[in-house]
Order: sequence, then structure tokens, then C-alpha cells
Amino acid sequence: MANTLYNKHIISIPELSRDELALIVATAGELKARPNPTLLKNKVIASCFFEASTRTRLSFETAIQRLGGSVIGFPDGGNTSSGKKGETLADSVRVISSYVDGFVMRHPKEGAARLASEFSEGVPVVNGGDGANQHPTQTLLDLFSIYETQGRLDNLNIAMVGDLKYGRTVHSLTQALSKFEGNRFFYIAPDALAMPEHLLDELTAAGHPYSLHSSITDVVPELDVLYMTRVQKERFDESEYAHIKAAFILNAAMLRDAKPNMKVMHPLPRVDEITVDVDKTPHAYYFEQAENGVYAREALLALVLNEQVEGVAQ
Ligand code: CP
Repeated sequence: MANTLYNKHIISIPELSRDELALIVATAGELKARPNPTLLKNKVIASCFFEASTRTRLSFETAIQRLGGSVIGFPDGGNTSSGKKGETLADSVRVISSYVDGFVMRHPKEGAARLASEFSEGVPVVNGGDGANQHPTQTLLDLFSIYETQGRLDNLNIAMVGDLKYGRTVHSLTQALSKFEGNRFFYIAPDALAMPEHLLDELTAAGHPYSLHSSITDVVPELDVLYMTRVQKERFDESEYAHIKAAFILNAAMLRDAKPNMKVMHPLPRVDEITVDVDKTPHAYYFEQAENGVYAREALLALVLNEQVEGVAQ
């Protein structure tokens, strides 16, 4: 079967099929079990970050080097690239893509990765996050983490907590899990940060049940995955934030009635929405999840930059 990811721009989750998502997850498992330092041999990949990142940038750069490739780029494009002199993103992409085999980027503006894909001179672009829009590679590592811990990507009960309005990770993860069968979604957010209606409508159209809640503990016993995100203080006035904050902070006592294999995930960075006592429970999985970013990104790059990946059923 042809590798449909070969040479493909990875801009948003809706553009990836269920089979492509499953292939990336399976390949990540292969590469975690059996490292392959040759898959990106002789390939140069640009890692251009116009917005701050710890995990996405460093796990991409680790993945590239672990697969035998090399990296060029910048961690702070706003200050260190010619964008500071007024060069357009389109011109920067056109030039950088002429140097490399693949182009990974993060940008604060929604739609920036799509624009880059239109100017990238035949080189595949991978979106490392564009504003509040999409973060597809976070979703790939989330899917891999769910598969690693639950053994499946269907028939799951998953809760998403926090800023569901602006949180690009929960948007992408909802869209990805809605491609699989029998998943049920529980959304827990302040009214002002509720999941966008158009995404809820997509779930309904795909036949997935969802429900909205104001308390984490109400749903904990039903869950396979509890996906926490940060509620940004700056979106509220001080007294309003003090009131809602308590409802969206997870502590170890709140997990008392959780299923033994229920896992707490978080894209990180965490600020104060998961107290450190949760770290010591068997439910905490967010640091392993961050490590899985290396394997998921290795898998993606291997499949996008090689027509055939040895040892992987395509
Ligand atoms: N999860 C995530 O995207 O982290 P960074 O912002 O550190 O890349």
C-alpha cells in the first residue's frame, strides 16, 4: 500500500485520515521499541519557532537527530530571523525551504503554517502550533500516549478540562478521537471558556456522545483519560478567577474513585492546574506523555520524508 503521508504537509488534524493517524501511532510504537538511526540519514530539517516552546521544539530536534538527520533553524524567530527586519513569512519560508528536506514551524498567527505550505518550494511543512488554531503533532503524541496506556483508540471515555475555547490541543484531540469508534467526550470548563459550538456539532454529526460538566469529580469514576489544560488567569478579573480556579485544579484526593488504569494527561507546561501530589499517583502520565513526543515526531518525520519505512506495515 502507498504511504499517503509521504511528502504531505501536516497542517491540521482534519486533513489526516483515521488510517494515517493509526499508522503514525503504530510507527511511534515501533520506533520506541526499536530505535532506527538511519531513517533521516542525509536529510536536513528546518526547525523554525516564531513562538516560545520547550517540548515541541526540543522533541522535534531530538527526533531528527535520533533518526540520523540534522537540524537548522531558530528558537525565537521573532528576534533572531530576518522577520525582525520586516521580511515576510512567505519570503522566509521560500528561502529556508530551498535549503532543507522538511520544514517544522510554530507561529503565533492562526493560518501561518498553511501559508508556509503554499510557499515551501515542494518541501513538506509540519505545523508545530499556529495560534489558537491547531497543534497536530501534540495530538499525535496524545493519541500515541492513549494507545500506549489504554491499548486502543476507540470505546474510550475522555474528559477535557480547562480552557476549551482557546486551547488548540483539545480542539485537535477532539477531532482526532472523533475519527475512531465509540468514544465519549466529557467537557469541563468555565462558561466563558466552553468548547466551541462548531466542534460539538462535528461530534454530533459523527455520532459521538458528549456532555458538559462543571466539576471534575462528578465524572472521574467513568473516565479512561482525564486531559487537563491550563485556565489562563489573564482571561478573567481577579475575583472571578479566584472563584473558578478551585473547580479546575486537580489534586490527588479527587482521583480516589478513578478506575485503576485511568491516566491523567496534560500537554504541559502546567502552572497550577495539577497539584504535585498527583505526580506520585499511578494515574499521572504527563511526563511520559511529553517523552512520547519524541517517538510520535520520529514516526511522523520518517513517514513524511520516506516513501517506504522499513519494518512498518503501510
Ligand atoms: N505541549 C507543548 O506544545 O509544549 P511547548 O509549548 O513547550 O512546545
